[in-house]
Amino acid sequence: MAKTVLVAGSTGYLGKFAVRAFNQRGYRVRALTRSEERLAEAGPFTAPAVAEFVDEVFVGEITKPNTLDGLMDGVDLVFSSVGISRQRDGLTFEQIDHQANRLLVDLAKRAGVEKFVYVSLWGQAEIGHLEIVRAHEKAVAALEDSGLPHCIVRPSGYFSDMGVLLDMARKGRSFLVGAGENQFNPIHGADLAEVCVDAMESNEPELGAGGPDTMTQRQAAELAFDVLGQPAKIVVLPMWLMRGGVRLIRLLNTQFGDLFEFIVTAGEIDGVAPSIGKTTLRSYFEELAADQTEHTPNP
Ligand SMILES: NC(=O)c1ccc[n+]([C@@H]2O[C@H](COP(=O)([O-])OP(=O)(O)OC[C@H]3O[C@@H](n4cnc5c(N)ncnc54)[C@H](OP(=O)(O)O)[C@@H]3O)[C@@H](O)[C@H]2O)c1
Repeated sequence: MAKTVLVAGSTGYLGKFAVRAFNQRGYRVRALTRSEERLAEAGPFTAPAVAEFVDEVFVGEITKPNTLDGLMDGVDLVFSSVGISRQRDGLTFEQIDHQANRLLVDLAKRAGVEKFVYVSLWGQAEIGHLEIVRAHEKAVAALEDSGLPHCIVRPSGYFSDMGVLLDMARKGRSFLVGAGENQFNPIHGADLAEVCVDAMESNEPELGAGGPDTMTQRQAAELAFDVLGQPAKIVVLPMWLMRGGVRLIRLLNTQFGDLFEFIVTAGEIDGVAPSIGKTTLRSYFEELAADQTEHTPNP
């Protein structure tokens, strides 16, 4: 009989690809969501509509434990890509990336599920001082301490963030944080979702996952212009200015400051994970360029 996997984060960029991948690889999918309608909608950056891949919808709020009664009933496996990637709810990395995922771990442990796959980030040692990384790694520690069989997936950047480069190029100008000479290898959500299903089936406690192309941020920005057939216009936002911006924003709103610091730091450190994804950034940009949709959500 097919095993039931609970997918938490099912309406997010990665989560939608994960719902589809688990379904297509023969699992029964229970999707945890706070909005059933969102499962039926395609997400930005080519994330698919997934209602047809979901066997059971569980409507609940991961921040409200009293809405999660019965969540783990009949669940064999848990996958979570819950996290804050864009600020929407006024909540912090600590509240979502850590505490919400810790709650899932506690519920999974109590229910005695067979395995838990959790999505954190690549390069945690180097950027461990960032609040987002601290929060993710607290969730990782909770999972490790739980004694549940688990795998931590550690991706480099996502193609969703690369889609922002194409949207900027379309508008005629791309902004880079710093000189953009740092290297990374972003991965397509569909390729990463396959890694997440592999993680459920493997005995590895951790899997790093990057895409096939290692390039600099500047090369990625130039590639977007090239695919659109336009000359590259790149504006460098100096690191000293951005660092000052982090301090200023943090004075006004700590969580926005933490998010902005993550974005700024990603502009200066390398992030090259094991190259597992197959989809090239050029082919992804070509796919985005073929339709006129602007994908970058409003902040
Ligand atoms: N972007 C990258 O380059 C990158 C790289 C490495 C790791 N990661 C990590 O990968 C994970 C998934 O990223 P993603 O791009 O798929 O994120 P995403 O599109 O923003 O999706 C995040 C998911 O978490 C849920 N969530 C967030 N805040 C919530 C709240 N207050 N209450 C209930 N649910 C909430 C969202 O639900 P709703 O749809 O209902 O809001 C959504 O299902 C994140 O933890 C991120 O840190 C990202």
